Amino acid sequence: MSTPPSHEVAAAPALPFAAGAAPPTDTLLQVRGLVKHFVVRKGLFGSATAHVRAVDGVSFEVGAGRTFAVVGESGCGKSTVARVLLRLIEADAGEIRLGGQDLRALQGEALRRMRSRLQMVFQDPYGSLNPRMTAGAMLAEPLLLHESLSAAQREARVAELLGLVGLPADAQARYPHEFSGGQRQRLAIARALAARPQVIVCDEPVSALDVSIQAQILNLLADLQQRLGLAYVFISHDLAVVRQVATDIGVMYLGKLVETGPAAEVFRRPRHPYTQALLAAVPVPDPRRRGLDAVVGGDVPSPLAPPSGCAFHTRCPHADARCKAETPALQAAGQGVQLACWHWERVAAHIAAPLQAAAVQDAPSTSAHATVLARLQAAFVRPQQEAPASSNP
Ligand SMILES: Nc1ncnc2c1ncn2[C@@H]1O[C@H](COP(=O)(O)OP(=O)(O)OP(=O)(O)O)[C@@H](O)[C@H]1O
Ligand code: SF4
Ligand SMILES: [Mg+2]
Repeated sequence: MSTPPSHEVAAAPALPFAAGAAPPTDTLLQVRGLVKHFVVRKGLFGSATAHVRAVDGVSFEVGAGRTFAVVGESGCGKSTVARVLLRLIEADAGEIRLGGQDLRALQGEALRRMRSRLQMVFQDPYGSLNPRMTAGAMLAEPLLLHESLSAAQREARVAELLGLVGLPADAQARYPHEFSGGQRQRLAIARALAARPQVIVCDEPVSALDVSIQAQILNLLADLQQRLGLAYVFISHDLAVVRQVATDIGVMYLGKLVETGPAAEVFRRPRHPYTQALLAAVPVPDPRRRGLDAVVGGDVPSPLAPPSGCAFHTRCPHADARCKAETPALQAAGQGVQLACWHWERVAAHIAAPLQAAAVQDAPSTSAHATVLARLQAAFVRPQQEAPASSNP
């Protein structure tokens, strides 16, 4: 992350890396061919079953100090990826390796130990914190589970964790409802850090927060990443946020990654028609960028019956007969980018021209474009589940 460390984060000694392990320098988390289909009942009295292909063969890697952002419209499978990574639900197929160890093969004590290395921060901190426990008790809980500390050592660790996330030491005695929304998210982050993780999966960690508070939490995450060498899997519907935090990006559509690569390259030169559409729909200060004709209309098809061939063909302005019949696999497209599209070279050229033109001349949006943009953007914006308790982060 390039975001500078937040000034508001209290200076505190950095936590040592996961017990006994030297900070790794390369890939920490490797995900290969991850599949999760949900069986749902339909028809009269639930007589028939169907499969929601929530995650359908997802592969990616995340290294220490890097942030892999997963983006895509609502329902494309982002949170399901998070839940199977954490083994909150079991995958149907695929490999999840943390530091080379196969997470899916672990059971019992080995799984518990490994779980401490992979933690999660949710969108709604209020929902993920126990309302009947004080902050101090909540932070002490994972310490009791994962570490053998004396009471005094535990108390010192709790104070250290609070300092790391910029909360005062006297916050220990407070209950979740006594914190503002931003402070609660800090507490949730401290709780995740208590287990000394190497990887944190953040599922929409700032979506429920005011924009100004979002920036502070993003700065905190960046600061912690720098200090502790953390790897993040960062799930977000908000490409403006992703642009700030991601080192690498995976664009998801109906359970599959359709484009992955270094974030700077994907943002600079989106190659897949869906990525182009998403980026064209991001609100940017320059109105000329919003007039690009790469955006798509229509709703996301049902994951119960994804379209044949390339699942994006029902909305893609470049689709032809091959796209309807044959499914493209991810293939290398230069500069570390991989994408699944039969016609990416033609499509990439198509976007390059208007992007260049936008830099030098006005290209005001038509009302049709504006409507499509509004619809697409709306698909990314979910109702806020929680308003921050106060403007004080
Ligand atoms: N337990 C479940 N049973 C059946 N279907 C499910 C279940 N959980 C998720 N789904 C379906 O799987 C698909 C992917 O859901 P998921 O929550 O992963 O999407 P998402 O990308 O996180 O969406 P959002 O941006 O709205 O959070 C959706 O069609 C969803 O309805
Ligand atoms: S394979 Fe065809 S339908 Fe799919 S994104 Fe590429 S051009 Fe569009
Ligand atoms: Mg989700």
